[in-house]
Amino acid sequence: MSDYQNIRLEIADRIATLSVDRPKALNALNPDTLRELSAAIDAVAKDPAVKVLIVTGGGEKAFVAGADIAAMTAMKPEEAQRFGALGHEVMRKLERLEKPVIAAVNGFALGGGTELALACDIVLASDRAVFGQPEIKLGIIPGFGGTQRLARKCGSFAAKELILGGENIKADRALAIGLASAVIPAVDLMTEARKLAAKLAGYSALSLKAAKQAIDEGLDKPRIEDALQVELQAFAHLFGSEDQKEGMTAFLEKRPPQFKDR
Ligand code: CAA
Repeated sequence: MSDYQNIRLEIADRIATLSVDRPKALNALNPDTLRELSAAIDAVAKDPAVKVLIVTGGGEKAFVAGADIAAMTAMKPEEAQRFGALGHEVMRKLERLEKPVIAAVNGFALGGGTELALACDIVLASDRAVFGQPEIKLGIIPGFGGTQRLARKCGSFAAKELILGGENIKADRALAIGLASAVIPAVDLMTEARKLAAKLAGYSALSLKAAKQAIDEGLDKPRIEDALQVELQAFAHLFGSEDQKEGMTAFLEKRPPQFKDR
């Protein structure tokens, strides 16, 4: 874990905290940083001691200020294709991680930063957070999934306002368009993120995974009948788990459940 140069991964109390940490470039994502993120997400996926992941930015100022512009300036189309594909791979890994992912957006989340937040399950924004897809001002478009996830999560009008207009928005506007789940005073952001993570970590890993997958896989189905089948299979499957028996028995016995993640 200490091999990382551009990120930090800390694990405590069943919660992993992954910080993008390149303060001199406001945590901008260059290829090395993306590769490290990919490796760290793999490590979190494999670690049974981790139940919830928090993603945040190192330093006071930025979550992630975008893909690294200095690294992109001289790219030819083939290189940009590889860079975009690497970004897609990382965002998709986060999105498909079988554990809840909380973004704690502590400052600038621009371009690839908003795209990173969009790949998380819950977005807590500090009241100092700034979101945006300013790529249009650089003569490009979002390349780490922003055109697709922003439109799917916030609707095409909001996506076009941000992506075609290129203006940054503050946390309260992000909340209004559904890009943030809550706005929290900056000083309390990490405490609140850990509190939420600890609450989720107390639930069964099996039902957390099933809930995340049912929502995401269902959303990818064009027909509600097919999406409901996804839920039905996952719902029924959980009744073969010890945790379902424990959760319901504990309710009837009026005691807190002791989930074992099996
Ligand atoms: N890439 C590379 N370096 C970046 C960066 C980025 N995305 N964002 C900031 N930096 C660097 C700056 O170049 C500067 O470096 P130096 O000190 O060496 O000059 C340092 O971080 C501090 O930045 P500023 O001096 O600009 O700080 P500021 O407080 O005046 O402004 C800011 C902060 C508004 C976030 C501004 O830095 C900014 O607009 N950054 C770029 C945001 C952006 O355009 N992001 C989209 C990138 S493209 C993308 O993400 C494509 C994709 O989807 C794949």
